[in-house]
Order: sequence, then structure tokens, then C-alpha cells
Amino acid sequence: MLKVFTAAGAGMLLVLTFTPARALDNGLARTPPMGWNSWNSFHCDVSAKLVEATADAMVASGMRAAGYVYVNIDDCWLLKTRSRHGDLVPDPRKFPHGIEAVAAYVHRKGLKLGIYESAGATTCAGYPGSIGHEKQDAAQFARWGVDYLKYDNCGDYKGETYLQRYTAMRDALAQSGRPIVYSLCEWGNKQPWTWAQPIGNLWRTTQDITPRWRTDQPENSYPQGILDILDQQAKLSTTSHPGAWNDPDMLEVGNGYLTDDESEAHFSLWALLNAPLIAGNDLRDMPQGVRDILTNRDVIAVDQDWGGRQGYRVSEDGNTQVWAKPMSDGSVAVILLNTRRGPVNIVTTAKAIGSRAAASYRVRDLWKHTDSVSDGRIEATVGTHAVAMFRVWPGSKSGTR
Ligand code: GLA
Repeated sequence: MLKVFTAAGAGMLLVLTFTPARALDNGLARTPPMGWNSWNSFHCDVSAKLVEATADAMVASGMRAAGYVYVNIDDCWLLKTRSRHGDLVPDPRKFPHGIEAVAAYVHRKGLKLGIYESAGATTCAGYPGSIGHEKQDAAQFARWGVDYLKYDNCGDYKGETYLQRYTAMRDALAQSGRPIVYSLCEWGNKQPWTWAQPIGNLWRTTQDITPRWRTDQPENSYPQGILDILDQQAKLSTTSHPGAWNDPDMLEVGNGYLTDDESEAHFSLWALLNAPLIAGNDLRDMPQGVRDILTNRDVIAVDQDWGGRQGYRVSEDGNTQVWAKPMSDGSVAVILLNTRRGPVNIVTTAKAIGSRAAASYRVRDLWKHTDSVSDGRIEATVGTHAVAMFRVWPGSKSGTR
């Protein structure tokens, strides 16, 4: 769509913007959304208390300053039946003052509120879904001050196709008059990367994540480990754009069976994939090491690069992988990944990762936060289930950034 704005003043200002139809035209999520979601750590144990304490922690931990914005309530926030007017009713034991009060609290902290519903007759935990009630529910969310909707795929579809169900909520959100990020949670069943760009701001590409390095389960089964999901992203690098993101599921950094190195690898890889960075740990009780991972600004800058080009797999040899992402300033972000046990030396080159040719390169280690100069060889010894992550600028002078 071509938009032309003109304004008369001291001179005539003419601004042209071009919004390709390949992304939902709601102006939101121009970089991948960043925030937190209750599901991975709390499942159905959600409440106003938890959400408000999480918002406090997001500020106190430095996460808000690092770019995290959305505080998202997942399933189980509502009662099992609608009101006699057909409205969704927040569970008064969990949200005694309703969602509106929680939204106001979160907004006062300079953050935004997200909520969860399903494009079927029930949510995955058996609460009322939104099919047939899209307009009513979207209007309700807008009245409450909701800024983000995760829209799941559970319950009876009542004979409607996935396109009808996900489009109905898109249109209802647009009609609600409030800017609401629209996150499709269709689990990758119908390959949403082939159709979801004009419908949602992001779409899940896989079944649910679990905090394990790998499960080796088949693609369509539940749950999936970090490496299982990573493998499924390799073919998707050209299908995301600003406003329209592949979502390899929420972060498990700091959760379950993941070591610190595995959490670091997971965070690095999700950033390189332009994934939404939606933390799934308990922010109220976060070890310093986990906080350091989630607030690593060098890595976050890779995810949030305005050019929005997703990373891709350069090579793999069974034990190691190299991934690269072109950055909009002409640098290239690169990950050397050791998928197995025991340290291994991994080598790539500026040429292999698609960097512009130069006599020398400035190489920044995004975890050690140190700079060095290279003739083009990029190398590190990488431990068990870990990564080294660099950003490579052609030309060795500092300030070429
Ligand atoms: C599905 C989704 C999860 C979570 C649960 C809630 O499994 O994929 O992310 O929202 O439902 O019931």
C-alpha cells in the first residue's frame, strides 16, 4: 500500500512510505516483539499478583531498559463459561480487579500487556475459545487496554478453515480500534510461513518448546528441544520480514534442564533467527547469570536490527554448525555452535558468512564484549552445547560500526 502524507508549513513536507502486502499492515512489531509470557514457568498458575510482580521485576532487572516491553498472560486467566451476555470473564480469584486493572498497572510501568485466546471453541486448557465471538472478544480486549494477543489453535474449529479462523480475529482486532500485536500460535501445522504474513505479526513455526537441549522427537510431536526447533528453522530464513516474524516459541532461558551454556546458545540462536524474545522464566527470582543472558545488549541488537533479515545456516557437519545473519550496517552476525559434548574448535571465514571483502575485519565477541582484528578467519573453541557469537565488520577501524 502506498501512503502519502503532506503537510504545509514553512515548506512542503512529503513523506512516502511503502508497506508491502507481505506484512500485516498494522504498523506493529517492526522488530521482533520482546517481553515475557507466563506459560513456560507457571502454566495455569496465573494471577494479577504474578503479572504485576513480573512487571516490577522487568523494570528492576534492567530488562525494560534492554528493550523488553510485553508482559503476557497465557492460558487459564478466565472462567470456564462466558457471561450471560457472551463476554469472557476473568477468573475473579486470579484477577480480582479484572484485566483492566492489571493493564493499567503494567502501563504505569511503561510496559504493555498481552493476553491469550484460541481460534477454536476452547483454549488448550479447556476455557472458552474465541471462534464465533471474535468481534466481541477483540472489542473486550481493546476496552481492557490489551496490547498483544497470542491466538492459539485448540478446540473445535466448527468447520472453519485455519485461514477463516485466523483472518476473522485479524479483522476483529483491526476493527477494535486499538493497536494490538497479533501472534498466531498454530504450531506450524499448516506451514504458516507460507500464508501468515498478511494475517499476523508473528506465527509459531513448531510444536511447544521444552527446556531441554534436544528431545529427538518427530517434528509434529510434543514437546520439542532447543536443537529440534533449531533444525526446523533452517528452511525458513527468507519467510520473515519486518512486521511478520517466524516464532520458534518462547524462551526457556534459565528454565528446566538447560545449563547456562545451553541457555546462552538458545538465546544467541533465537536472536540470530529474528525470533520474538519472550522470556519464559520466573523474573521475580532470577540468578544473575540468567539476567546477564537476557539483557545482553550486543545479542539483543542482532535480533532487533531494523533491516529484519533472518539468519540462516551456513554449514553443519553433524557436531558443529555455523549460522550467519546480515546486519543492516553491513556487518554480519555469526554463531559457531557445538551441538555435542566436549570442546571443539570451529572455524569459518568472513567470505563464508557473506561479508564484504576487506583487507581486515573488526570482530566483536558478543558474549565476552571484546574487539579484535582478523584477516578473515573466524575461530573459537566452543564447549559442550555452547556457542561463540561474533559480529564482523569489514575494515578494522573502530567506528566502522
Ligand atoms: C498450547 C500453546 C502453548 C500454551 C498452551 C496453553 O500448547 O502452544 O504455548 O499457550 O497451549 O494451554
